[in-house]
Amino acid sequence: MEGEKCTILVIDDEQSIRRILEKELVTAEREVLTAADGKTALSILKSHWVDVIIMDLRLPDVENLELLIEVKESVAYVEVIMITGHGDVDSAVEAMKYGAYDFIQKPFNLERLELVIEKAHQRVLMARENSILRHKRDNNKQQVQFIGKSEAIQGIKFLINKVAPATIPVLITGDSGAGKDVVARMIHQRSSCSGRELIIKNCASLQKELARSELFGHAKGSFTGATDSREGLMSYAHESTLFLDEIGELSLEVQASLLRVLESQSYRRVGEKQERKAKVRLLFATNRNLAEEVEAGRFNEAFFHRINAFNIEIPPLKDRKEDLPLLVDYFLMRLSPDNSTYKIVDRAMNCILRYTWPGNIRELRNVIERSIILAENNIITERCLPRELVSAAEESHAALSLELVEKKHILKMLQFFDGNRQKTAEILGISRKTLYRKLAQYSL
Ligand SMILES: Nc1ncnc2c1ncn2[C@@H]1O[C@H](COP(=O)(O)OP(=O)(O)O)[C@@H](O)[C@H]1O
Ligand SMILES: [Mg+2]
Repeated sequence: MEGEKCTILVIDDEQSIRRILEKELVTAEREVLTAADGKTALSILKSHWVDVIIMDLRLPDVENLELLIEVKESVAYVEVIMITGHGDVDSAVEAMKYGAYDFIQKPFNLERLELVIEKAHQRVLMARENSILRHKRDNNKQQVQFIGKSEAIQGIKFLINKVAPATIPVLITGDSGAGKDVVARMIHQRSSCSGRELIIKNCASLQKELARSELFGHAKGSFTGATDSREGLMSYAHESTLFLDEIGELSLEVQASLLRVLESQSYRRVGEKQERKAKVRLLFATNRNLAEEVEAGRFNEAFFHRINAFNIEIPPLKDRKEDLPLLVDYFLMRLSPDNSTYKIVDRAMNCILRYTWPGNIRELRNVIERSIILAENNIITERCLPRELVSAAEESHAALSLELVEKKHILKMLQFFDGNRQKTAEILGISRKTLYRKLAQYSL
């Protein structure tokens, strides 16, 4: 942790303040960037690794605190120190509620500012370190469970067991919430590197300009923001598994670099000539149709064929409804706050069975979690389910059920013939006996 360079971004519309801070704060371990407005600041943040931001509370082109909120939402591991004028203490306190680390008042005391920067930087370093530790803990916390008895799930379990000990890459496909993460974790757990941490990266969260550097690392000075050399995920995942989620979001350039890793088991940091060995098991996931992406020129064809050689496709939940009762029981047990037992009434279970689950298992999990909160005496009724779910289930039942259509049609014909069963049976093309049976069956 020690000895890591700290990059500071000063955002202030007053040139004199930018100048002073730049001049006073730069040291061998500290680099200072400056921006006069919010727009410039955001574009700098897209292409530079920034650790600490010093931001004027009032900026010309953004509402108070809006930039702070945006930064805290979009940049991982950054701390923000607010600069406030006289009498702005209320706003400063407000800023801290939105995640600012601290504030200093103008005119400022440089010594105190340096102290605050130092603390903020330590915190950034800790947060980064923790996120790596958290990975470790999450992965070791509990064995993931892959619930289901449908043919599809059994087939997937078979494939997982077969492919896990091998080192070949695996492409996991399926709709959002279908269980791609679970499959990736299972493969890692059953592989020879299960003792090491699984590194997961969602490619959608990679900033475009920095994607290659995040994956492969970079050499000092290899681009404007690279004030220090940095390791990439490829080296964090050494002798372990790297799971790249939402692979469809990667640029063609990065796809080509990954293909090279698969072909030669080596990679280069950005800005370096030296080849490094990549002893990494790669898993990929996407909810896109990559064949179509290739067709459209958005996905590298050779890379696609390479990773598609072993594909595990998870079908949507609506196509394996026989898994629903097991999954419901599993979530009721796992999400029960005090390990008490919850029961679900038939009518509620029927709604769950009829619903189409566009959000797949993730949606099911959320629905069960909510229903546990709403349950009275540990009994889950329809009233504990989201109303849209119940009505969608009813509609789909009404639309799908042949029986209901038949019942309605028989009733219509009966009314048309004033209750004459002979004529009704004739027009329906069935015997009177069959008609009687159906009338009894539908209690008409
Ligand atoms: N077969 C399964 N058995 C148990 N839990 C599952 C199963 N599939 C998915 N889940 C759970 O459903 C949620 C969504 O799954 P996830 O793997 O994150 O979906 P995806 O990555 O495809 O969007 C997670 O909480 C996961 O633990
Ligand atoms: Mg996922």
